[in-house]
Amino acid sequence: MHFPKRWLAGALLAVFALLPACNTTGGAGGGGTGGGGGRGNVVTGDTIPIGSYLSMTGSEADFGKQTNEGLSLAVDQINGSGGVKGKKIAIHLENDEGDPAKAASAVTKLITNDKVVAVVGEVASSLSLAAAPICQSNHVPMVTPSSTNVKVTQVGDYIFRVCFIDPFQAYVVAKFAHDNLKVNNAAIFVQNDSAYSKDFGEEFKKNFTQMGGTIVAEAAYAGTDTDFKGQLTKIQAARPEAILVPGYYKSVGAIAKQARELGITVPLLGGDGWDSQDIFVTAGNALEGCYFSDHMAVDQPDPTVQAFVSAYQKKYGGKPGALAALGYDAMNILADAMKRADSLDGPAIRDALAHTQNFKGVTGTITINSERNAEKPAVILQIRGREFKYVTTIQHP
Ligand code: PHE
Repeated sequence: MHFPKRWLAGALLAVFALLPACNTTGGAGGGGTGGGGGRGNVVTGDTIPIGSYLSMTGSEADFGKQTNEGLSLAVDQINGSGGVKGKKIAIHLENDEGDPAKAASAVTKLITNDKVVAVVGEVASSLSLAAAPICQSNHVPMVTPSSTNVKVTQVGDYIFRVCFIDPFQAYVVAKFAHDNLKVNNAAIFVQNDSAYSKDFGEEFKKNFTQMGGTIVAEAAYAGTDTDFKGQLTKIQAARPEAILVPGYYKSVGAIAKQARELGITVPLLGGDGWDSQDIFVTAGNALEGCYFSDHMAVDQPDPTVQAFVSAYQKKYGGKPGALAALGYDAMNILADAMKRADSLDGPAIRDALAHTQNFKGVTGTITINSERNAEKPAVILQIRGREFKYVTTIQHP
């Protein structure tokens, strides 16, 4: 097809008109997308609009529910004690249904229509990866409470997290398997359409083999799969002493159940993606005695943890998971940064977030490092009855 040059130029101009205004002053920390400057959104009314995009329905719905509960509890407390710079925080929540394309459009709506000055979300790394470039190019700071995949904050200097990253989490699980459980031969079973699960598997392999262990089988499944017996039969034939399943609760529960049905009795090991009471819906008792790494243990005696647990119980009943705690910490860290920021525009909030140091959160003491990640210890939890019991804390090597 041929278009007159004039038309093409017109079309290009129209595209550029949709992009955020640019200047070239850049900013602290260096950008990932090279989008230049621009103020992001600015607070104009008497509330501070904050966006949040979460999976409120779909196979990860419990992630969204837990996170939103923690976030809302933090907002109640912040607003109850006067808000930020004399203004109350107003949360604009979008449901992305666990779908990357919907995560991207949710964030576009929050930034363009709702004019949010910052965004909290997502949980699943693949969804944060889908939305982060939009926050970055619009200079709207994004704080993910719980996406642990290393690539998320590499999107650019407006993207932060308050959790540890998977290279560390995978080291923690490898170390526990090798040193505590004395496992020498392990199998790995990952969800191949999840950035989190795939990279977790790779990092585990690297660490576990460095420790002297052997990976005897590797297999993969897709997020929509429900029958895992083919892969599990192959894994079983390799006679592993433990199987790493770094996926999300719904699939992991079904995998555990089918593994036991096939006669596989060795422990399954996993990461934070297991953290939902809904794991028992698909697992039944199949995960009894198994271990996973996480961000917090509700049965830790720490006074900050216990104050959070009782505030949560008072508002919602029941016990919070790590995701509620991370949602709570993400909102509190954002509020703390906004209090310290020179103004409430994108670059000012970004700069203040980057200077977060020794913030006493429920999930640990949080310092944002130069890569906009938080370095914190991880806990190992064991499934006993239908509870997640604290086993040990593992620090950075
Ligand atoms: N870390 C997971 C991811 O990046 C998300 C998650 C965090 C799930 C904490 C449960 C608890 O995809």
